Amino acid sequence: MHPQLIVLFLATLFSVFGSSAAASAADWRSRSIYQIVTDRFSRSDGSYTSPCDTNARQYCGGTWRGIINKLDYIQNMGFTAIWISPIIKQLPNNTYEGEPYHGYWPENLYALNSNFGTEQDLIDLITACHSRGMYLMLDIVINHFASMGETPNYEAFVPFSHERFFHPPCPIDWGNQTSIENCWMGDGFVSLPDINTEDPVVVDTWKKYLVSLVDKYKIDGLRLDACRNIPKSVSGEISRAANVYSQGEVWDRDPNIICPYQEYMDGMHNYPFKELATDAFVSSTGNLTDFVTVVHQMQAQCKDVTLFGTFMENHDNPRLGSFTTDIARLKSLAVLNILTDGIPVVYYGQELALTGSNDPMNREALWLTGYSTNNTLVPTFTALNAFRNFLVMSGVQFITTLATYTVVSSSVIRVQKGNVVIVLTNSGKDVVTNTVVDGFGEGMELVEVLTCGVLQADDAGRVQISLTGDPMVLYPKSLMTRSRIC
Ligand SMILES: *[C@@H]1O[C@H](CO)[C@@H](O)[C@H](O)[C@H]1NC(C)=O
Ligand SMILES: *[C@@H]1O[C@H](CO)[C@@H](O)[C@H](O)[C@H]1NC(C)=O
Ligand SMILES: *[C@@H]1O[C@H](CO)[C@@H](O)[C@H](O)[C@H]1NC(C)=O
Ligand SMILES: *[C@@H]1O[C@H](CO)[C@@H](O)[C@H](O)[C@H]1NC(C)=O
Repeated sequence: MHPQLIVLFLATLFSVFGSSAAASAADWRSRSIYQIVTDRFSRSDGSYTSPCDTNARQYCGGTWRGIINKLDYIQNMGFTAIWISPIIKQLPNNTYEGEPYHGYWPENLYALNSNFGTEQDLIDLITACHSRGMYLMLDIVINHFASMGETPNYEAFVPFSHERFFHPPCPIDWGNQTSIENCWMGDGFVSLPDINTEDPVVVDTWKKYLVSLVDKYKIDGLRLDACRNIPKSVSGEISRAANVYSQGEVWDRDPNIICPYQEYMDGMHNYPFKELATDAFVSSTGNLTDFVTVVHQMQAQCKDVTLFGTFMENHDNPRLGSFTTDIARLKSLAVLNILTDGIPVVYYGQELALTGSNDPMNREALWLTGYSTNNTLVPTFTALNAFRNFLVMSGVQFITTLATYTVVSSSVIRVQKGNVVIVLTNSGKDVVTNTVVDGFGEGMELVEVLTCGVLQADDAGRVQISLTGDPMVLYPKSLMTRSRIC
């Protein structure tokens, strides 16, 4: 089937679920999210040449209208939701650390960031998503406001326009959770006054604000910034009031730190998975056992990892392409990103193997790439999303089934989730690694989803395979017939 037709077919199916407001966690579990830095994704004028010096940390001109004009690009890759930058008005200054093009320096909850467009543009974006059966996730900064200089101008803040709504200033001691929650991020150039979320008036204001925001714009889900800096019970209370799926950020690779948050919120970003997968797969010396150990720990300790956001890149971390340009490794990480436990989240530009390292270099203007679809990862993500969407729609136990990970050798792992068997190596492109995959039915025919090649198990249900760096995704051919993928 032609890719455009697959998209149409899926849009029709997803729209059955997509039309209602207030999407639940279960609704989101079936989705695949494309994360956008609004200022850097697409401009209203459709320019492919407008300059953007990432290092300068200035607004580059991306807009909500620009996103509308490029929804085909996103949907053609099989994504069924987008997550956009915070929408609200930011501090107005050009600081020593640049402009708040990222949206994480809020000043006024009740006004929009006019750099991204008008309120009508935002409404049109949400309507455009919904008419395609796609969800929209809003990024919300609860922890802090922002002001230029060491002493905040509290009067500029709306609605928390007085010092009494904030904790007194102190630098964060990252080894002390009370300090993480009460003290201030930021520095002498941009201060990030820490909102006193223990104050019931503040919590009540946040709840009412989010209820009205979700209702007014028909928001489908929330991404909650900096949850590590807010008491768990408070993030929980606020996200429950909003009554849509919420995914929280706690930037830590330790399951013991992350899992307890899920007792309060629907899901978190799966940072341990991302960190360990990166370490394991960007080089042939990566330790696959360490990766599998942590993945199993997440499954055992967290309430439900299938409601986590499974990601490999974001606006805060160096892109995978800054660690390796080996396309076989990047494809293997794409498979882990889309087909394992959790809701896939792909950071804009990851599909083009962009190479930006730390913030701000990882926030490239995508228009300068021409949205080229000739990078190998575009067909890879398209096929992986199409396959996952097919599994969701065909009603087989997949998204709610936990994956089982097996270390086959120091360079090969096997992942089984439902009837999907994934074989991955960290040996790198063109390195031949022979391995045997077993446990299939006698003589069973299997499709390799990324190439549509067919393999057959022997009498003992075993398949001999010769990996050449690329991932393999195996699925029984008999179940694949109606997929329109292979
Ligand atoms: C930031 O910009 C606002 C509005 O233009 C201005 O009133 C304020 O003085 C500026 N702050 C600093 C520290 O320059
Ligand atoms: C942790 O931080 C809080 C808030 O800054 C402080 O009051 C407390 O003394 C610190 N505890 C320790 C053990 O340092
Ligand atoms: C992708 O297309 C662009 C032009 O659209 C071209 O410059 C580039 O060389 C192509 N890359 C590959 C890998 O084919
Ligand atoms: C991986 O790390 C573990 C310790 O966490 C160690 O026992 C094991 O030998 C390492 N494996 C490889 C292949 O280096």
